[in-house]
Amino acid sequence: MTMLVQLIYTSSYEGSIGLEQARDIARKAGVANEQNGVTGLLMFGHGHFLQVLEGSTDAVNETYQRIAKDPRHRRLRLLSYREVGARDFAAWHMQHVDASSIGAVHLQRHGLVEHFEPSRLRASQALGLLRFAARSIEIKTASSTVNAA
Ligand SMILES: Cc1cc2nc3c(=O)[nH]c(=O)nc-3n(C[C@H](O)[C@H](O)[C@H](O)COP(=O)(O)O)c2cc1C
Repeated sequence: MTMLVQLIYTSSYEGSIGLEQARDIARKAGVANEQNGVTGLLMFGHGHFLQVLEGSTDAVNETYQRIAKDPRHRRLRLLSYREVGARDFAAWHMQHVDASSIGAVHLQRHGLVEHFEPSRLRASQALGLLRFAARSIEIKTASSTVNAA
């Protein structure tokens, strides 16, 4: 069986970036990740990224090396790299999350004191926040499906 790994890192955008650009990065990443069997989330806010990548060792390593060379961001900080039994973010090849959509109370609960500054997080806090964001998306998606029905 192929070994499954999960990698979490943070970085800061070089220059100024809007929500649309961050969304566009995630959309393009999703297309490439689908081909490589990579899943994850890309959270963005206040010029900072928090991203989780999951997949085979080779796919995640290769993707992270490519991302690390990307001049659009800097100060990459690897928070966690570990073997996992199952994916936490299997539903998305790369889902964008707007950090400002996560309430301040929840950010604080996950270790962010004032605003979205993910490089301050410990690995366990970062994973907790990403899982929380994933659940929020799932709830929103489920309720919009119900409302549309
Ligand atoms: C914050 C951020 C996250 C990214 N996430 C991914 C990703 O998950 N998968 C991916 O293939 N590329 C991702 N990219 C894009 C890569 O860095 C790179 O631009 C793209 O893979 C094309 O690489 P190439 O020009 O070497 O072919 C990301 C870029 C940024 C700035």
